[in-house]
Amino acid sequence: MDNKCEEILEVSHVTNRYRDSGSGFLSRSKMTRVLNDVSLTIHRDEIFGLVGESGCGKSTLGRAVLGLIPFEGTIRVDGMEYSAKNRQEFTRSVQAVFQDPLSSLNPRRTIAATLEEPLLTHGIGTKETRRQKALEMLELVGLDASYADRLPRELSGGQRQRVCIGAALMIDPDLVIADEATSALDVSVGAQILNLFQEIHDRKDFAMLFISHNLNVVYYLCDRIAVMYRGSIVEQGDAESLYNDPQHPYTRMLLSAVPEIEEADAMSRYGFDETRRESAAEGCDFYHRCPYATEACRKMPDLVSVLPEQPTEKNPQAEHFVRCWNPVRNA
Ligand SMILES: Nc1ncnc2c1ncn2[C@@H]1O[C@H](COP(=O)(O)OP(=O)(O)OP(=O)(O)O)[C@@H](O)[C@H]1O
Ligand SMILES: [Mg+2]
Repeated sequence: MDNKCEEILEVSHVTNRYRDSGSGFLSRSKMTRVLNDVSLTIHRDEIFGLVGESGCGKSTLGRAVLGLIPFEGTIRVDGMEYSAKNRQEFTRSVQAVFQDPLSSLNPRRTIAATLEEPLLTHGIGTKETRRQKALEMLELVGLDASYADRLPRELSGGQRQRVCIGAALMIDPDLVIADEATSALDVSVGAQILNLFQEIHDRKDFAMLFISHNLNVVYYLCDRIAVMYRGSIVEQGDAESLYNDPQHPYTRMLLSAVPEIEEADAMSRYGFDETRRESAAEGCDFYHRCPYATEACRKMPDLVSVLPEQPTEKNPQAEHFVRCWNPVRNA
């Protein structure tokens, strides 16, 4: 019986805070919030993109899903919530590929040994079958068998990232988190790695959370996209709707359809002073950078659908949500 969940990843109301010790001599430590009530679902076989500028909390969400940091709220992978007891099962279900392949690889371990390692850790197969699977994986990620007995330093950056992708897939995870996995590579090599993700995803059965600061890259690869700003999801939709008809001024800024305005400019434009800035803490996080801000934005908007209730004929999978009082529809 197939008892697998249709939802591979369910993130509900996840908030993460860390203790900020403050910079001044007398400053007291306070809790700083990185993720603010984040909810999202990734379906089986889906590639889901998470995009936003540096420091918005993307990797923090990835780390929470990997069970590496504490958080409030719930995260389920294939219906299972992380706990100390199911740690091994959980790490088998979720694997990650990071930005820097060199630091992810053990410099003294051959490529084949690197690929075999997850099987060994989880007690899967025999010496022979592990070697065989490693060779098959090399082929899948586009490296020939001669790489098996080489060391990471003998490979290029792109080839190393191919090895990291292979290592993540060796134990057939349900979910792969790729966190800026192409960002450190040359543009053309990064494009090859994006194509590799696409090819492998077509051939294997896994869902992916693809994290990047680059909306164009995310659009190229992903089925659905969420845009994060200061730890909140401000817009989410199927890739076509979100990319071709962005509703949130921040998403449009990422696509350069809206001019970036300096925080200081915006604060004087809206007659802001620091105390009012504080009082807007409950409001939209983007208020002080937004060219379209109005008084309404002093309250935090909900994430609401901007599509008609019936799915469109052209795109039955269509979904599109925005957290904005003044979405720039048809602007
Ligand atoms: N334990 C911690 N101590 C100090 N700062 C933290 C801690 N955890 C998270 N942060 C801060 O939280 C913010 C979000 O970090 P995160 O790495 O998730 O961002 P990101 O969106 O992945 O950025 P990038 O695109 O640069 O990778 C950053 O400002 C980071 O400095
Ligand atoms: Mg990051």
